[in-house]
Amino acid sequence: MELLNRKLDTETTKINYKKVVWFYDFWSLLTESKAAKYVIKFADIKDNETILEVACGTGVVFEQIVNLNPNGKNIGIDLSPDMLKKAEKRLKKFKNIDYELKEGNALKLDLDNNSIDILINNFMIDLMPADTFDKIAEEFLRVTKPNGKVVISTFSYGKKKINKFWFWVAKRFPDLLTGCRPVSFKENLIKSGFKIEKDMEISQNTFPSGIIKARKMARK
Ligand SMILES: C[S@@+](CC[C@H](N)C(=O)[O-])C[C@H]1O[C@@H](n2cnc3c(N)ncnc32)[C@H](O)[C@@H]1O
Repeated sequence: MELLNRKLDTETTKINYKKVVWFYDFWSLLTESKAAKYVIKFADIKDNETILEVACGTGVVFEQIVNLNPNGKNIGIDLSPDMLKKAEKRLKKFKNIDYELKEGNALKLDLDNNSIDILINNFMIDLMPADTFDKIAEEFLRVTKPNGKVVISTFSYGKKKINKFWFWVAKRFPDLLTGCRPVSFKENLIKSGFKIEKDMEISQNTFPSGIIKARKMARK
């Protein structure tokens, strides 16, 4: 499967998400909300856990994480101050709950080794340059506790013929999708030392997504 070339730097990504923040939630409701349901299901949050969402965007999934983990520690990071501002508004209602939203970069997480029980990352890998995938997987492995889990959703190639439409859009009109394109992150996770526990393909209004749950092996 062809992996489309992307070279987005952090400043371009910030500009891109400043432009789309006003309609992002509507887009995600139509194309990504089904994947988000599986992500929450696979994360199997028990409360009292330390949970990190990398690229939390406008906080749609982070809100659910905080709801399920009110006695734990919840950290949401994103590159875009504009997406974070919207997330802050959404999360305002949570009083006396330990949550934190801050700017951060998936490529260099400002977190200790082995500090996170569950790491969640939705629809970010698909806009990253391919030569950063290994680095991201290594960062995810570094911060996750032994036996901790990561749950990741991405724009995928899909299994149905109709899903190919989105590959075509990503190839022909990359800016329409802020640079996102179909990817597979599974091999990078395995290479870094994760064990894949779930690997699922879904489609919502023809838009294809992949959801992966993986665990950090205890000996790492
Ligand atoms: C397609 S949006 C997904 C937002 C959210 N995860 C969701 O599913 O609604 C991609 C998000 O990734 C963020 N992002 C892109 N590159 C990033 C990086 N290197 N580190 C952290 N966040 C990043 C963008 O700012 C944007 O908010």
